Amino acid sequence: MTKLIPIISAEEIKREIQNVAKLISRDYMDKKLILVGILKGSFIFLSDLTRQITIDHEIDLIGTSSYSGTQSCGAVNFTKMPDIELEGKDILIVEDIVDTGTTLTALMRYFSTLKPASVKICALINKNERRELPIDVHYSCFNIDKGFIVGYGLDYNEKYRNLPAIFDLKL
Ligand code: IMP
Ligand code: MG
Repeated sequence: MTKLIPIISAEEIKREIQNVAKLISRDYMDKKLILVGILKGSFIFLSDLTRQITIDHEIDLIGTSSYSGTQSCGAVNFTKMPDIELEGKDILIVEDIVDTGTTLTALMRYFSTLKPASVKICALINKNERRELPIDVHYSCFNIDKGFIVGYGLDYNEKYRNLPAIFDLKL
């Protein structure tokens, strides 16, 4: 039977996003910040984060897919490319969760070909257990060791994205 075990509450998420947004607002004060959210998992995080950032910034979206069920399948497919010109901009990639590091390694490589002023990463969750590629996560709200997490944008086979808090999924 599928079980959802609560691990991070809606209040904790809100508090951590406020903290991270403060840091970003300070660090990017004199920069050309653009948040690039990775579809689909980051859409709720992105929408809360952007509203807590107090400096002017742009928003774009990029689509990737590499997961089927709870298994990463290695190769990263781009399903949507950014619309806005990124040359000279300070790109902050907004990701729901960093797992093996495959997605972000591919994205860092792609974005660096577009001649941005800088590229950094902001992740809601940094999950360490299965990291295969070294990734510098510049801003993160939560660190977790292991598990398969759902809720607040994160899915299992497209379900549970709507849950307002974060749960460990036990199949
Ligand atoms: P990576 O390329 O292995 O780092 O995986 C990154 C992507 O896999 C994330 O953007 C998520 O969409 C998905 N993912 C990894 N771990 C989880 C999880 O625990 N729950 C839901 N999605 C996950
Ligand atoms: Mg994702």
